[in-house]
Amino acid sequence: MPNAIVILTGAGVSAESGVDTFRDTGGIWSRYNLEEVATPEGFSANPTLVHEFYNGRRSQLSQVEPNATHFALARLEREHEGEVLLVTQNIDDLHERAGSKNLIHMHGEIAKALCAKCDARCEWREPLSAKVPCPSCGEAGGMRPDVVWFGEMPYQMERIYEALGQCGVFISIGTSGSVYPAAQFVQEAARAGAHTVELNLEPSENRLDFDEAIHGPASRVVPEYVELILKGDISA
Ligand code: OAD
Repeated sequence: MPNAIVILTGAGVSAESGVDTFRDTGGIWSRYNLEEVATPEGFSANPTLVHEFYNGRRSQLSQVEPNATHFALARLEREHEGEVLLVTQNIDDLHERAGSKNLIHMHGEIAKALCAKCDARCEWREPLSAKVPCPSCGEAGGMRPDVVWFGEMPYQMERIYEALGQCGVFISIGTSGSVYPAAQFVQEAARAGAHTVELNLEPSENRLDFDEAIHGPASRVVPEYVELILKGDISA
């Protein structure tokens, strides 16, 4: 499917909405210990700390709005004649609020909870704690944010690799390229013959893997690039 486009997004697309990135100066991982709040071991050791961390991130959702990048990507999906699959590493809901529909949250969603006792998933907008019972099985003590922690398998990998193997264009936006497997998607798409593009504030760690790189704030470079694709100047 030469017309198919796969887009990978990271924290940089939500930065201009006021959501912190992870590895920039003052980013989340400079204030929190990744092992303590984003691993299964950290959750077992101190569930209260982990719940507080994600409760804070969940409550932020109601204070932020999608920006021009999210809207441009939703427009691309609506107006491009081939398939557009958006794969995000972000756990916020800004892509869907901007109108994206063909969307995979490979690192999960902060507005959902997962019960470790019965595997049920549900929408969750309130604070979570170890005491909250699961709405499905009624058991307390198993509820966790439905996010993927380090050491866990990201979601829908089979569907993502299938799309990467068939796309004509792969675009990576607002991600440092430091977390696998997402950082390796560019190589997978390149093997399939796709044109690969990085749109990021600065060169990412895997900048050299891309055919093309445009550096600048996503809210400027992404709408411009979407316009080029829709005008037919980028061959997908
Ligand atoms: P990072 O914080 O590692 O990288 C964010 C990237 O966005 C950096 O390369 C910035 O230069 C860029 N950036 C910042 N502001 C931007 C802007 N306005 N326009 C364009 N680019 C901008 O975040 P991710 O790459 O998303 O995983 O991190 C990947 C994963 O690591 C996350 O999903 C999370 C984290 O640990 C888990 O928690 C499992």
